[in-house]
Amino acid sequence: MKVRKAVIVAAGLGTRMLPASKVIPKEILPVVDKPALQVVVEEAVASGIEEIVLVLSPNRTIGLDHFQPAPELERHLEQRGKHDILESVRQTNQLARFTAAWQDQPLGLGHAVLQAREAVGDEPFAVMLPDDIFDSERPCLRQLLDTSEALNAPSVALMRVAKSEIPKYGIVEVRPARPRLYELRGMVEKPPIEQAPSDFAIVGRYVLTADIFDLLARGRPGAGGEIQLTDGLLALNKKRKMFGYEFEGTRYDLGDRVGYLTAQIGFALKRPELADNLRAWLRTRLESGHFLAKL
Ligand code: G1P
Repeated sequence: MKVRKAVIVAAGLGTRMLPASKVIPKEILPVVDKPALQVVVEEAVASGIEEIVLVLSPNRTIGLDHFQPAPELERHLEQRGKHDILESVRQTNQLARFTAAWQDQPLGLGHAVLQAREAVGDEPFAVMLPDDIFDSERPCLRQLLDTSEALNAPSVALMRVAKSEIPKYGIVEVRPARPRLYELRGMVEKPPIEQAPSDFAIVGRYVLTADIFDLLARGRPGAGGEIQLTDGLLALNKKRKMFGYEFEGTRYDLGDRVGYLTAQIGFALKRPELADNLRAWLRTRLESGHFLAKL
């Protein structure tokens, strides 16, 4: 299968990051100096995706604005000879082709993905959740695309989670196939720990086939009273072989305050112009015993 389009769902209320996300959609909050949404779009492009379908809430459109040209700002930077910054600003509107799809009401992730149906059409597509960002040598979505292309089947990114974390995720039942590769045998959204089929959680990258749209359209509210993508996946899995791939790399959960903070540090340490100063600060804090005060 050849995947050209990625659906990025950016229509949530961002309640886990309030009050920061009261006015600013959480996907626009920065990871160092880039909106999280841009980090995810760059992962999509680096994975070979050509078109991004952004699912937005109609009253929160700045996610789309970020990828449009900003002629006045560009002129200003050009006149002042700030070429590096100009380049980084221009990059944002040359990354990919964007289409918007709208979710009028927050009825759940499955419902949000369904809103991209017209923009996606009848071809296989990726879904990316911008709460989840990855630091990996081979982009996380590329790892999934390689899996789906080789097996001609839908796939999801998997990660083992601590028992206590299980009720926060879609959890899969698996049959090991090869190292890191699992055949999916079932899945359940946010189960109680004792009902979880494994400790493998789905994290926010999926490669799906267009027949999931019919299944989502028929979907009934599930966990939390929402139309869940996981329930659509379960229905799809009844029709098709599907796989989970335990991705290689580090995942940060931007919807969690500690995940958000560690993402800042992790991504800043990858930037040579920032890493030395940050490392020096971390070192003095560590040496002064500040970080370990409570250990
Ligand atoms: C969503 C999905 C869940 C998945 C998680 C990954 O949940 O519904 O299946 O495990 O993303 O981050 P949410 O975080 O929106 O509650």
